[in-house]
Amino acid sequence: MIFVAVLAGGIGSRMGDTDTPKQFLNLGDRPILIHTIEKFVIMDEIDEVIVLTPQNFINHTKHLIEEYTLNNDKIVVIEGGKTRNDTLKNSIDYIYENYSVDDDSIIITHDSVRPFVTHRIIQDNIKAAKKYGACDTVIPATDTIVESRDGKIIKNIPIRDYFYQGQTPQTFKINKLNSLINDLTDGEKEILTDAAKIFVLKGKDVALVDGDVTNIKITYPYDLKLANTILNDKND
Ligand code: CTP
Repeated sequence: MIFVAVLAGGIGSRMGDTDTPKQFLNLGDRPILIHTIEKFVIMDEIDEVIVLTPQNFINHTKHLIEEYTLNNDKIVVIEGGKTRNDTLKNSIDYIYENYSVDDDSIIITHDSVRPFVTHRIIQDNIKAAKKYGACDTVIPATDTIVESRDGKIIKNIPIRDYFYQGQTPQTFKINKLNSLINDLTDGEKEILTDAAKIFVLKGKDVALVDGDVTNIKITYPYDLKLANTILNDKND
């Protein structure tokens, strides 16, 4: 089976003073979260889309889905967690509580605030996760990366060709991801903010999937302006 976890449990503090977390702000005429969910629900190969939000936004989210989304019988809304990883863990627990998971079952995890993910990216994630067990969506770094440990003096300027910027989705075989998470020590859980990194640290392969420059994460108010421009451009 193929599950999607749309991670929408954050509060969007870097977006500044807004009435709701950023995933509920409008992009064009619909909430960002709705754009994101729609990318997944229309794909036949996806069995269930799990949307994880802060507890006090669960009902709001259900109403939005009823209002805007077709195929909403394969969407479920549940509570996210305190950190992004806790939110991811809630989705895994939900899957184990409600389904019998085989070794080929996969989970596509995606930031709710990346509404421009494409079907090509999602399909490439599914293929790569089936083949390698784990994959991460990336684009080549365009800026030179400069390393400093004290914020004052450059320690190193690595070769740019070896560096990529991480996007989402990140996609995993669920049984593999779950067993690696269960093996983490409390100390490791604190530092491992990224599920792909758990695989890397445990010596497991994580395949690269080509992302897209438009697959931006809406973090700051400027990103929302940029997202509206991208949306208008795609609609032309
Ligand atoms: N996220 C989540 N659960 C959390 C924290 C984050 O599901 N406890 C989700 C966010 O809703 C978002 C994605 O992870 O879709 C990427 O995180 P980020 O952009 O950092 O979102 P926020 O944590 O909401 O933003 P900020 O750091 O500005 O507060």
